[in-house]
Amino acid sequence: MVLENLLEQAFDDLQIKPDQRESLKTYLTIIRNRDEATYKHCLRVGLLSRDIADYYGLDAKALLYAGLMHDVGKVLVDGDTLRKKENFTAEDYEKVKSHALVGHALLAGIHEFTAAIIVRHHRYQPNPYPAELPKPKAKFSPATMQLIDMYARLLSVADFYDAAISRDNSKFGGQINSENTEKIKELFRQHKPDDFATAEDLLRGGILNSSYVAQA
Ligand SMILES: [Fe+2]
Ligand SMILES: [Fe+2]
Repeated sequence: MVLENLLEQAFDDLQIKPDQRESLKTYLTIIRNRDEATYKHCLRVGLLSRDIADYYGLDAKALLYAGLMHDVGKVLVDGDTLRKKENFTAEDYEKVKSHALVGHALLAGIHEFTAAIIVRHHRYQPNPYPAELPKPKAKFSPATMQLIDMYARLLSVADFYDAAISRDNSKFGGQINSENTEKIKELFRQHKPDDFATAEDLLRGGILNSSYVAQA
């Protein structure tokens, strides 16, 4: 089944209301207009995040939304920079890094909870960003803040996994595929040491698998 159909299925299963579907699809269309690969990555990370939520008995809707929208801020990064495969300059890197805060700004006040999750999706890595988080428009309770942090962490595992095994994995040496479980584990160990146990558990449980990449 193509990714779009899997997404419709997920919307149906989670009984997402029409206005919410339309809102998410509007953002996804803008992402697609900017860069097809980023759009597909967002669909896969959304579905994978939903699977992770199901596996741990968490809020599947929250993780689906966050996964779909996590890179929405890339709509303000020029396509040539997004599609660059090598020779990244410091300036390119700064441009790409802006997507975390831009994504938050695009969703803040509209999908506030999702905005709070996605702004954190690059915070759990050796070079975390953004350095400072924006003030949420809504006042979240400490318990909600804990959930936001946990969901952002799980989202970041799905994101890292998809980036590593999708066809365009030049930043990982271009030789990672779903069969290289040991290589994938090693990447997680190096790049996401704090979440290694979760990644290992999800690999063992078969949740992190290549089924969505195969649809791309
Ligand atoms: Fe990102
Ligand atoms: Fe991503």
